[in-house]
Amino acid sequence: MDGEAEDRAWKPVLALRARAERGESAAADDAPAPLDALFGELAATPAGGRFVVAHLGQSLDGRIATESGHSHYIGCEQSLLHLHRLRALVDAVVVGIGTVIADAPRLTTRHCTGPDPVRVVLDPRARLGAEASVVTDRAAPTLVVHSRDVHPMLPDHVETAALAPDPTGALPPAGVLAVLAERGLTRVLVEGGGRTVSSFVAARVLDRLQFAVAPLLIGSGRPALSLPVVETLDAALRPPYGRFELGPDTLFDFDLRATPAA
Ligand SMILES: NC(=O)c1ccc[n+]([C@@H]2O[C@H](COP(=O)([O-])OP(=O)(O)OC[C@H]3O[C@@H](n4cnc5c(N)ncnc54)[C@H](OP(=O)(O)O)[C@@H]3O)[C@@H](O)[C@H]2O)c1
Repeated sequence: MDGEAEDRAWKPVLALRARAERGESAAADDAPAPLDALFGELAATPAGGRFVVAHLGQSLDGRIATESGHSHYIGCEQSLLHLHRLRALVDAVVVGIGTVIADAPRLTTRHCTGPDPVRVVLDPRARLGAEASVVTDRAAPTLVVHSRDVHPMLPDHVETAALAPDPTGALPPAGVLAVLAERGLTRVLVEGGGRTVSSFVAARVLDRLQFAVAPLLIGSGRPALSLPVVETLDAALRPPYGRFELGPDTLFDFDLRATPAA
């Protein structure tokens, strides 16, 4: 599909999102195929309705970056477009401080039409510097969630919210989502890195989990998911999934709502 055709296919999804936003009737299959399966449910979720999706772009051998943190880009252009389309449909995009330090990401919607989400950085120990681009560029609102024990030194235009950390010092995912919901941010994309997405999976707070798998072997580096040890494969997660071609990449879209609670 060329750029213009892609735009034509995308516009009805944005229109569906706008109808849902206004509280008008909106159904997932109002989006045209094949985008209905990928984006219909999210686009049809009304303001205040919950939809939490995590996404990682990984190599075939399950790495999201090299050991030194280089990750641009594991996936193809279509995978990048897919990620930006997710950003355009959510209220907030969440990343861990590790990703902000490694990548200085902008977290805005640039590869497709659509609004920018609120950028949320999980920074329990207040490591985010006032010179970070999510602080200085003012391209979209930024919210920093930190542990109650620290006081981030950030300019006034950056909102901060304190949360009680768990015993390991991490911010509990359910608490993070509650902080966002208090601000009306209920349609959420958890965009990385591996530790952050893993904690949201382990906490069983995700509706959907997506991996864009690229035909690339890194052989070492930062892992996508790291979950508590299971002894046998009976305990592995086998959620229902959809599989989609994104150019040379394959997107696996797992529905975690059907998996039993731990
Ligand atoms: N391929 C992709 O799709 C993709 C996407 C994003 C990032 N990346 C890559 O991933 C790497 C960074 O990933 P990462 O796993 O090292 O770091 P990360 O998940 O971005 O950040 C982890 C840090 O976030 C803080 N944190 C707060 N609450 C947390 C929670 N509930 N769970 C986990 N962390 C929480 C902790 O900070 P403290 O240590 O200060 O306590 C933790 O060390 C970078 O190399 C980046 O390039 C790849």
